Amino acid sequence: MRLRQGVAATIVWVSAHGVAGGAQPFEDSIAQRTLACTACHGAQGRATRDGYFPRIAGKPAGYLFEQLRSFRDGRRSYPPMAGLLANLGDDYLREMAGHFASLDLPYPAPRAARLSPSMLARGRTLALEGDATRELPACAECHGRALSGAAPAIPGLPGLSRDYLNAQLGAWRDGLRHAGAPDCMAQVARRLRPEDVAAVTGWLAAQPVPDGPVPVAPPGRRLPMRCGSLAVHASGGASSAGASPGGAAASRAAAAPQADAAQVARGAYLARAGNCAGCHTARGAAAYAGGRGVATPFGIVYASNLTPDEDTGLGRWSSDDFWRALHEGRSKDGRALYPAFPYPQFTRIRREDSDAIFVFLRSLPAVRETNRRHALRFPYDRPLVLEAWRWLFFRPAAFVADAARPADWNRGAYLVNGLAHCAACHGARNVFGAARERGRFDGEQMPDDGWYAPSLHDPRQAGLADWSVGEIVELLRGAATARAGVAGPMAEVVAHGTQHLSEDDLRAIAVFLKALPADPPGRAPAGATGRDAGWLARGARGYGEHCAQCHGEQGEGVPRAYPALAGNRAVTMDPAVNLVRIGAHGGYAAATTANPRPFGMPPFTQVLDDADLAAILSFVRNAWGNRGSILSGSQVSRQRGSAAR
Ligand code: HEC
Ligand code: HEC
Ligand code: HEC
Ligand code: HEC
Ligand code: HEC
Repeated sequence: MRLRQGVAATIVWVSAHGVAGGAQPFEDSIAQRTLACTACHGAQGRATRDGYFPRIAGKPAGYLFEQLRSFRDGRRSYPPMAGLLANLGDDYLREMAGHFASLDLPYPAPRAARLSPSMLARGRTLALEGDATRELPACAECHGRALSGAAPAIPGLPGLSRDYLNAQLGAWRDGLRHAGAPDCMAQVARRLRPEDVAAVTGWLAAQPVPDGPVPVAPPGRRLPMRCGSLAVHASGGASSAGASPGGAAASRAAAAPQADAAQVARGAYLARAGNCAGCHTARGAAAYAGGRGVATPFGIVYASNLTPDEDTGLGRWSSDDFWRALHEGRSKDGRALYPAFPYPQFTRIRREDSDAIFVFLRSLPAVRETNRRHALRFPYDRPLVLEAWRWLFFRPAAFVADAARPADWNRGAYLVNGLAHCAACHGARNVFGAARERGRFDGEQMPDDGWYAPSLHDPRQAGLADWSVGEIVELLRGAATARAGVAGPMAEVVAHGTQHLSEDDLRAIAVFLKALPADPPGRAPAGATGRDAGWLARGARGYGEHCAQCHGEQGEGVPRAYPALAGNRAVTMDPAVNLVRIGAHGGYAAATTANPRPFGMPPFTQVLDDADLAAILSFVRNAWGNRGSILSGSQVSRQRGSAAR
């Protein structure tokens, strides 16, 4: 209901601006592409049962852009938004920021303050004059005399709710919100006593919003403290580590001596094929400096620093050491490595490819970053247990070409089974977490974060035998085709990995995948029966209210914007975990060169309870010729997981 009001408000607003919504013809616009945002934020920021969604319309563009990057890269934390932004690039975030900044919407009148006159007076003093005895500058010194902010990067303060203001100052004080260093707001927040915070936020929330656009900061204006978030902006925006870890490195290749340069470039290409940066880069941190946790059934294993730092990275490694790590899964000091590092696949990488990747990694800037200790449960933290595991389940192997097959199939086999390690997620595992050789592409539940990597030969899951090579290439390059889109961990694989591969390599992968023997069709899913009629009717109503405006009354979708749900395997597949995750948390498809500005789906956990969502998903699984099992509310509760993956 609340979402509908939000979406309806947006559509009314959108129509007033001459952009089509609802049943009118689809119009591709930035407003359409950000419907996933207005579902929560509404036009003017909204309070709901589950919290307060701040207004974003009309705030300075540079400020909004910084916030979006901060949520994506982990300097600000709100998982439902971080999940939406995870695979979007800086240019698209800047465009979104510009869009919301350009909206000129009236502010509602402020609520009357419920503070004593003396508290209000104290709040006013702090805001407009500060407190010199505690080296606390006035808010107005930075936020402007009318407190209406200063374009491009300081936001206005009136018009924000008191809850929101309190939450932000608290988050800065507790280190949960960060802006670029030096973070002046963190210092301000730490100098405010709790009663000061109550006074200043109470006073601010009662102020009307000054008319007119946000004033522009006068050039050369000096602030009472240094604010890093402004410096970042003045220099045109530093490039983000999250967006494209390979890019900067690839361009550095040009600086290396000629002979090396070709090998560095080849190594950079191969590193992308193996998505080394995906695991070896922590959110928002330096590329390849390690620190990202990889979930396993036995705990978390942290990826290592691969930059050439002498003490904390690979600075003292030789190409032999590096080859041994990939091929045998042993570190330089002989320690066995955990198979969260996919060496059971990488063992098939050829020596010359290992050497090229090593040369590329040596060309990166050294980053001093000590490896984190793994967080494994007893007894899996014992070296002996790991050695036993390896003795049972791991043998170094080499790729052996199949002479009876064409060259492109063999190239595809080499990439899929080795460097691109598709089976690391898509392969069935035994109870010890080891890949089962015979079930290499049978599909598997991913540890911890709940996604299911579907079978690559079951035609009801992700089997590709009846796809054309061109369609498979399109999926691996653009993250979506007319019949399928990728989400979650697979969106990362495409964004950081396969989209960068050459046409020849993508075709080779497609040829190999297409040739995997298709499973014989198993038992058809039960589907709905007469007893489910009431549940499906409830779902149909919910679908009409919350989903049809994007996915269509008949589940037909909108080409290149909203996926069709009719005849979509992601909808009918069992297990239904991916469907539940997408329904609960929404998402944007991965931004790729082929599709840099994808459309988004709003999260629904804030608006629908688990039973409502289960009814809608059951309906979708059994409408328009679809046939899938019925989902219950408790299944949805169990499977939806958390928004951050
Ligand atoms: C699930 C609801 C939800 C969705 C969907 C959502 N947001 Fe947010 N957004 C929030 C909440 C809650 C906050 C405040 C978080 C905090 O307390 O720091 C926020 C904060 C923000 C801020 C910072 C505002 C400020 O004044 O500092 C920006 C900018 C923003 N969102 C933009 C977006 C954009 C763009 C999208 C779509 C891509 C989006 N949001 C989608 C709930 C949402
Ligand atoms: C030295 C300059 C400076 C002073 C003084 C200052 N601010 Fe800020 N403030 C900033 C900057 C810069 C930002 C944007 C930070 C970012 O990019 O996240 C900001 C952001 C904020 C935000 C976030 C707004 C949003 O929409 O999320 C709040 C709230 C805020 N300031 C409150 C205050 C209050 C209250 C005071 C006075 C007690 C104050 N500030 C004093 C520079 C300042
Ligand atoms: C699925 C996540 C993942 C991917 C993809 C991945 N790694 Fe790793 N890697 C890890 C983890 C986790 C470790 C730490 C293992 C341990 O300490 O036992 C690791 C360890 C290593 C080590 C050993 C470092 C040391 O100090 O002992 C090397 C070398 C390495 N990775 C190279 C690579 C290369 C090259 C690629 C790309 C071809 C790559 N990794 C891709 C997760 C990954
Ligand atoms: C990090 C884990 C991971 C890796 C590595 C991985 N996948 Fe996936 N893949 C998934 C998950 C999870 C899904 C289900 C979500 C979805 O459909 O987007 C998926 C879905 C797919 C789909 C189905 C798309 C659709 O909607 O029909 C195909 C095809 C696929 N992967 C191929 C590959 C290939 C080829 C590789 C190797 C280049 C690969 N995957 C590597 C996790 C992974
Ligand atoms: C504002 C438009 C919008 C609304 C409203 C919306 N969706 Fe979506 N939906 C999308 C977009 C865009 C995608 C593609 C996202 C991606 O690829 O990550 C999507 C993806 C999906 C998928 C995954 C399809 C696939 O091929 O992987 C399912 C299932 C889905 N939506 C169901 C729903 C349901 C159920 C509702 C209502 C509760 C709903 N959607 C409401 C825009 C919307």
